[in-house]
Amino acid sequence: MMEKGKDLFAHKSKSWDMSSLRVQNAKEIADVIIAHARLKKSSVVMDFGAGTGLLTYFIAPYVGKIVAIDNSQSMLNEFVAKKDEFECETEAMLLDLTTDDIDTKFDAIISSMTLHHIEDTKAIFEKFYKMLNSGGYIAIADLDSEDGTFHSDNEGVFHLGFNREYLASVANLVGFVDIKFQTANEIKKPNATYTVFAMTARKDI
Ligand SMILES: C[S@@+](CC[C@H](N)C(=O)[O-])C[C@H]1O[C@@H](n2cnc3c(N)ncnc32)[C@H](O)[C@@H]1O
Repeated sequence: MMEKGKDLFAHKSKSWDMSSLRVQNAKEIADVIIAHARLKKSSVVMDFGAGTGLLTYFIAPYVGKIVAIDNSQSMLNEFVAKKDEFECETEAMLLDLTTDDIDTKFDAIISSMTLHHIEDTKAIFEKFYKMLNSGGYIAIADLDSEDGTFHSDNEGVFHLGFNREYLASVANLVGFVDIKFQTANEIKKPNATYTVFAMTARKDI
């Protein structure tokens, strides 16, 4: 059981960006998002579980503002320290989106490698839906179903990757349309290769 309020990334935040696998993964995911979610220079975007801002960095040149939401103070400290490197306006908010609410609407919600940390996928998709402007996109990247070996420690991991059909059915149930999947990346580790999907979907009304 995860301790409430514990910063699960405190011991990883300082060295997070030193992994070339992580940086490359964020770049590959960003390329798919840029190709499939209609981002504009005026778009206000939420990066859910933004962490140190790897995905924000690659999306920033294409949008107006990115709001980084994360429940890890240590990861957000790294994000804020890099503020001047991002090519758009940014704002960092320390929030657990499974329990906290903010009264802001976004043109797009992007996320990389965070959904597997969220127990109730339908509830977070419902929240995303409410927080999007009409015509807005979600662009969510995470692992395809895996055997539990991706993380060395599975504390705080609620899903061993995702089945794409299941995720599409949840998004559909919540009201999203134009649900599409791309394979964004393959992460090669010594004992296995893991694929990463990027799902895009639109709020119609
Ligand atoms: C695996 S890291 C990914 C970070 C970044 N997106 C990347 O690709 O490098 C997952 C991030 O999600 C954040 N996170 C997990 N659960 C969260 C929640 N309920 N609300 C907000 N952020 C959360 C963690 O603190 C962490 O920074």
